[in-house]
Amino acid sequence: MMHSSPYALGFTTLDHEVDHVPLTVTGALPGWLAGSLIRTGPARFEVGEQAYVHWFDGLAMLHAFAFHSGLASYSNRFIHSKSWCEAEENGRIVRGEFMTDPCRTIFGRVMALFDPKTTDNANVNVAMLGERIVALTETPMPIRFDPHTLETQGHLAFGKAVKGQISTAHPHTDGMLGYSYVIKMGRKSAYRLFVDEGGRQRVLAELPVDQPSYMHSFGMSERHLILTEFPLRVNPLRLALSGQPFITNYRWQPEHGTIFSVIDRTSGAVVARAKAPSCFAFHHVNAFEESGVVHVDFLAYPDAGVIDRLRLDRLRAGTPSNAVSTLTRFSIPLDAAGSETLVAVEGKGLCGTPFELPRIDYLRRAGRRHTCVWGVGQSEPASFLDTIVKAELADAIPVVRRWHEDGCYAGEPVFVARPDGDAEDDGILLSVVLDARAHTSFLLVLDAATLTERARAAVPHHIPFGFHGNHFPDVNQ
Ligand code: CO
Repeated sequence: MMHSSPYALGFTTLDHEVDHVPLTVTGALPGWLAGSLIRTGPARFEVGEQAYVHWFDGLAMLHAFAFHSGLASYSNRFIHSKSWCEAEENGRIVRGEFMTDPCRTIFGRVMALFDPKTTDNANVNVAMLGERIVALTETPMPIRFDPHTLETQGHLAFGKAVKGQISTAHPHTDGMLGYSYVIKMGRKSAYRLFVDEGGRQRVLAELPVDQPSYMHSFGMSERHLILTEFPLRVNPLRLALSGQPFITNYRWQPEHGTIFSVIDRTSGAVVARAKAPSCFAFHHVNAFEESGVVHVDFLAYPDAGVIDRLRLDRLRAGTPSNAVSTLTRFSIPLDAAGSETLVAVEGKGLCGTPFELPRIDYLRRAGRRHTCVWGVGQSEPASFLDTIVKAELADAIPVVRRWHEDGCYAGEPVFVARPDGDAEDDGILLSVVLDARAHTSFLLVLDAATLTERARAAVPHHIPFGFHGNHFPDVNQ
């Protein structure tokens, strides 16, 4: 029998759906906590006789925790995306995912690129795109849903000019305008950064590229967007014709280094470019400008090996995933040479404790200097993401705080500021935690400053490990 990891339950299908079940709360939820935490993640890992290959492939489910007067309720529902509906109807995997492809003819594949039968399986993030709450994956087909019933409502259509096959599940917002990008793949490929003004998208900048990078997120400072091209690149023709799953077409080409393009948020002009040694990241943490320099923080891996380590067979067998990386700052001069010259920059590690799924006080700090970052780390190298980590960067030597409990695996900690609170860490963290020994999950509520527990609310079933979500203060039940 195959050895099974103690956290394999987190990669096990959940079919059970519930609607607004009241949760038993241990401890006390803050009286001011209202609104809803809405998250997404993979929840079904098989269709008929077929199985998905990678953690990023599973069919998406929404999970919502609604808060009111110290009470909490929970709902969960599969997203009825095209990926999900076609799989249901056919009893097999129909649309290709990140590392899984249905067997398709070459003809079908060519058609797929130009008439995108690409996935809309929005299992990565739930966020505001412009003025709408949507569920997102890395294609330009965000899913609209009713935030109260979690019922799928269809796609959010991008404006005609915003054409591309790939996008990001991590859009930015400054409270007024939304920012994101698509990647147009073809004979002439390009990154198209766009701005969303009141639900209308407009292309802000178009950057031609021969071999587009795999990028999971980008940076936003007060006046600029920062596109970071990691040297994991793809030949668009190979992507169209290879017959191989999406990510396996990308090649690690460290000789390219890591390329930063700094784009003016108003004019769309590329105002600076820089090159750092090769590295890889999923998540930008934040970016900010001081004294003519743009500082870009992300969680840097030495290479893209982590992608393969997150295959489901490895995770279920307990092969160490080391899905944690180093909080690293890259400082790009704005006025040194203009956009024609690649300025050489080096990353500077900010914190000795590696982690992932980073969060900041986004509403108040996005684009401005931050001093607190929360995320999930590992209690030991052989484990999986299991620990909530806080890095305090205000002093020269960062202070790191942790929350961990044996047999428990914590997910992304979402920061919710206390109304009228001043300090950057005055608030709480909301994290969905798998209790592998009890075979269930619970919502954990920590004091964001000290990481001491304030409350937990037990969920009636396990919640497979997900990726991202957000707290929406206006979504009341
Ligand atoms: Co992400």
